Amino acid sequence: MKDKVKAVILVGGHGTRLRRLTYNTPKPMVPVLNMPFLEYVIRNLRGHNILDIILAQYYLAESMENYFGDGSKFGVKLRYVMEGSPRGTAGAVKNVEKYLDDTFLVLNGDIFHNCDFTNMVKFHHRHRAKATIALTPVEDPTIYGVVETDRRGKVKHFFEKPEPGEVSTNMINAGTYVLEPEVLQWIPPDTKYSFERELFPQMLTDDKPVYTYSFHNYWMDMGTAEKYLQLHRDLLSDKCDNHSLEKDVIIGDKCNIHSSAQFSGSVIIGDNCTFGRGVRLAGPVVIGPNCAIMEDAVIADSVVWDNVTMNTRAVIKSSVVANNCILGSDSYLVDAVLGDHVTVDEGCKLKPGARILPGGTVKDT
Ligand code: GTP
Repeated sequence: MKDKVKAVILVGGHGTRLRRLTYNTPKPMVPVLNMPFLEYVIRNLRGHNILDIILAQYYLAESMENYFGDGSKFGVKLRYVMEGSPRGTAGAVKNVEKYLDDTFLVLNGDIFHNCDFTNMVKFHHRHRAKATIALTPVEDPTIYGVVETDRRGKVKHFFEKPEPGEVSTNMINAGTYVLEPEVLQWIPPDTKYSFERELFPQMLTDDKPVYTYSFHNYWMDMGTAEKYLQLHRDLLSDKCDNHSLEKDVIIGDKCNIHSSAQFSGSVIIGDNCTFGRGVRLAGPVVIGPNCAIMEDAVIADSVVWDNVTMNTRAVIKSSVVANNCILGSDSYLVDAVLGDHVTVDEGCKLKPGARILPGGTVKDT
């Protein structure tokens, strides 16, 4: 890989589908196995020697800069570029045009995958493409942008969220592109503009060479709470190549765990957590730092963020609990998502599938 291939990561979206979790935390900073999601994307790029990275920002930008700084701690050089108003996926790249003078990559900042960027760039050059779109197979393509190609991988048609039976392929736009700088002249300045719905279809109409690069490794768009949880299940069950854990139970520093606590399956615990008598964790479970899990509380198949208190006999199953929540004694959550700073009253049993906005107290749903 040539050193000068740069990458633009799109990190400015509101993350509305993950709304309960993204009020205070932008989607790229949402923790995955207790590490900001964006760090995986940056590590992946660094693994392919793509070290010059531009973050195209809009929503809740500061936390990224506070965490990653100039990128040197992560072995890369980071530049942050803020939009005055959200420009959409292609408009956001137009907004960073002055940094792009050679072939470059664009990545959605909410997709976990192991695409081989090195090979993808080589493919792009071999085909003399102006744009190359990574494609990945999914079981149900009807909720995605589907791309039909000829045998050489040249795009024939785009279908946005097609009806069942409308398409003959399950290969979807994986949210990763290799582009030539020339493409930027076809994006209007200071305008909201999309790759998927506007630029790529227009390039096809204008007979520009748009190619696709198919990969079959793990791919997950973690844009909804269900998929966010599924990503954790997959990572903790070794379904994602390259991401195996060295042991089943990983415990952070300065944790205080009662000898009767039982952990089964894959469990990751952050620093400074306490676990009382009889606590049960049935993995996959990830618990952030500074959590207090009191006597006989149970957590199964769930992700709990930072500074959460679970009082005695509280139960969390197949749920996501954001920062600073308090669960009362005997409270019960299944398939739930709690935003930050939610208090669930003692004995309260949330209806399965509850989605609770940040703040406030939940008595009964
Ligand atoms: P939803 O609102 O739930 O669809 O999420 P989102 O806002 O992240 O939108 P979407 O999933 O379509 O975005 C794909 C990627 O592009 C994500 O990484 C977003 O952060 C990013 N993105 C979307 N819109 C913009 C934008 O206007 N500006 C910038 N800089 N990034 C954007």
